[in-house]
Amino acid sequence: MAVLGIESSAHTFGVGIVEHGKILANCKSMYKISDKGMIPSKVADFHSKNGWRVIKEALDTAGLAIDDIMAVGYTKGPGIGACLRTGQLAARAISVKYCLPIIPVNHAVAHVEITKHLSRVKDPIALYVSGGNSQILSLSDALGFRHYYVLGETFDIGVGNMLDVFARAAGLKPAWGSTVAHVAEGGSYVPMPYTVKGMDFTFTGLLTHATKRIGKERIEDIAFSIQNTAFSMLCEATERALLLTKKSDILLCGGVAQSVRLRDMLESMAAAHKSRVHVAPNEFNADNGGMIALVAEKMLGAGYKFDLSAAVTDQHYRIDKVEILW
Ligand code: FE2
Repeated sequence: MAVLGIESSAHTFGVGIVEHGKILANCKSMYKISDKGMIPSKVADFHSKNGWRVIKEALDTAGLAIDDIMAVGYTKGPGIGACLRTGQLAARAISVKYCLPIIPVNHAVAHVEITKHLSRVKDPIALYVSGGNSQILSLSDALGFRHYYVLGETFDIGVGNMLDVFARAAGLKPAWGSTVAHVAEGGSYVPMPYTVKGMDFTFTGLLTHATKRIGKERIEDIAFSIQNTAFSMLCEATERALLLTKKSDILLCGGVAQSVRLRDMLESMAAAHKSRVHVAPNEFNADNGGMIALVAEKMLGAGYKFDLSAAVTDQHYRIDKVEILW
C-alpha cells in the first residue's frame, strides 16, 4: 500500500506517491509567475483548477488506483495561506471520501528528509535555502524532544526571495534566480554589505544596496556581487555550524540548492574540512509532492495519528516545532 502526498505551499501544486521509501510518482503543475510576483488568490485559483488533474496523473504514473492508497499527506506549512489551503482541502476530501488517515507535513522537514533519503546520509547538518526560508539545521534532543534544531537562520527574508526581488527591480526575466546567475557570469566584484552574526544572517541590507546600484554600475557586476556575497554569507555560517557540530556531511536542499554556483562554493568550503556536500536531483530541490509523500509515510510508520480537526494549515509552521520520531 502506498502513501499519496500533496504539496501546495506556493506556486507549485505537486503530487507524489511513495511506497516503502520508493518514489513511484512525482507530478506537478506550476503557476506561471508574472512580473509582479505571486498574487496568492490567483495562485490558489490555479491550484484549485489543476489539482485534481495532477492527482490523477500521479496515480496513473504510479500505475495505481485510489484503492491502493493507504494514507494521504499534505503540506501544513510554512507557506502562503491561500495556496496551502488548496492542498489541505484536497487531502481532507480524499481522506473523508476514502476513509484514509490524513497526515499534516512540515514543508521544511520534507525538503531536508527527501535530500537525506536520496543521499543515504545518516547524521548531516542541512543548509535549507529557498524563496521563503534560509536555515542551518541539525537533528537534536536539546530541548527535550528530537527535532531539527535551528543553528542559524535569516533574520529577515529568504535568499531566494532576495534574488527574485533584485531581478525584478533590474527588469530581468523569470526564472529570476537562474537569470541572476546567468547575468552574473560576465561580472566582477563591486563592494556589497555582508552581514553574518554567528550562524545567523540578514539579506535586506544587501538587497537595498544592490537595488540602489542599478543604473550606476554594470548590471552583470551587481548580479555577480549580490549573488556571491549572499552565498559567501551562507557558506561562512554553514562552516561555523560544521565545526561546532563536528559532523562531516552537509545536505544542501530547497529551491536555491539548484544553484550551481552555491553548490561549488559550499563544496570548496566543505573540502577544506574533509566534509561532503549532498544535493538531491533538481526535481526534488524544487517544491514537489514526492517529499511530502515520503515524510507522510515515515510519520505513518512511526505511529503519528491525526484526526480531521488537526488537519489544519499554518503559514508560520516552524521546523523546530516538529517532533521527529523516525
Ligand atoms: Fe520549498
